[in-house]
Amino acid sequence: MSATVITNIATLVTNDPSLRDTDPLGLVRDAAVVIEGDRVVWTGESSKAPATDNRVDAGGRAVLPGFVDSHSHLVFAGDRTEEFNARMSGRPYSAGGIRTTVAATRAAGDAELEANLTRHLAEALRQGTTTFETKSGYGLTVEDEARALRLAARHTEEVTYLGAHIVAPEFADDPAGYVALVTGDMLNACAPHARWIDVFCEKGAFDGDQARAILTAGKAKGLHPRIHANQLSYGPGVQLAVELDAASADHCTHLTDADVDALANSSTVATLLPGAEFSTRAAWPDARRLLDAGVTVALSTDCNPGSSFTSSVPFCVALAVRDMGMTPDEAVWAATAGGAAALRRTDVGRLVPGAYADLVLLDAPSHVHLAYRPGVPLVTGVWRRGVREVR
Ligand code: NIG
Ligand code: FE
Repeated sequence: MSATVITNIATLVTNDPSLRDTDPLGLVRDAAVVIEGDRVVWTGESSKAPATDNRVDAGGRAVLPGFVDSHSHLVFAGDRTEEFNARMSGRPYSAGGIRTTVAATRAAGDAELEANLTRHLAEALRQGTTTFETKSGYGLTVEDEARALRLAARHTEEVTYLGAHIVAPEFADDPAGYVALVTGDMLNACAPHARWIDVFCEKGAFDGDQARAILTAGKAKGLHPRIHANQLSYGPGVQLAVELDAASADHCTHLTDADVDALANSSTVATLLPGAEFSTRAAWPDARRLLDAGVTVALSTDCNPGSSFTSSVPFCVALAVRDMGMTPDEAVWAATAGGAAALRRTDVGRLVPGAYADLVLLDAPSHVHLAYRPGVPLVTGVWRRGVREVR
């Protein structure tokens, strides 16, 4: 198999886990990466790189692992421009807006949904995302949820069943009946297409007992839990995530000290989604508090038409640094290795021998520029599984 060396890299972020305690980003200056097939086979100083058939000159720029966006909602139709406009004139965000997208998604054909999904994925790839998770949750019938998962599974292995996004409108007077559907026929139809199960645990969506019942039923079907937890208010979501060993508790905007302690003593990642606070003009999650307590933090987009219509991980990195107390190094780690941890993956989010050759080349000398130069399209090269997809 022929190998390619990317050389003349001013700053290489490897996220080498063996250096986590001393140098979490595993930085190498004046570095090179060797790719064979879809994998990284060597990283180190340029001067020591093995000879290969093909050579790419990085031109003294920075290379980092492709972003791992571990939280998005990309199977939907329509948009919510009017709701956004109203919010920017002072109306608060609530879970109720989800119904607008449910109606549009149900009315859309498969081709329209998939075209929309593909468009957003291409947009994300151009901004450096090489692994992404995505969810159902805008169908809320057995057929519409299974359809969303089937379509998503054509594009990623990280597919999440979110039948419990809100109570379906048909069950407005019978939430228990909807929970029975989500844990019964809908779960049976959806489980074969998904790896994960998620619940929106929040006032106006599902309470702690309902969320526990739903996630436990999913676990019994072989799905792994993750939770929309503590987004709009304090609540039981984070504690439940830890209790069930969820891979991730997502949002984590309103946390008690007990919630932070529970996360710190667990293997549940706190996935922060600053696009949602930006787009709903809400208070930021306190990343500093979580990091100082020893919690593993991931950063993702939450890309969805209601609360966070951005596919840009670099934008989220910049927000996290500016407004959530993260250093640029911490934010870059969270958007790569952190996302991988939130998906319980060790083959992405790091550039070490054996990992997938998913790389981002920045038009900048270091990864710090992602936060230092907000809004600037710095991603100038993306390799996915060893293939250059963006140049
Ligand atoms: O993660 N919190 C629940 N779900 C989405 C919002 C979905 C929507 O508003 O359409 C979120 O923010
Ligand atoms: Fe979400």
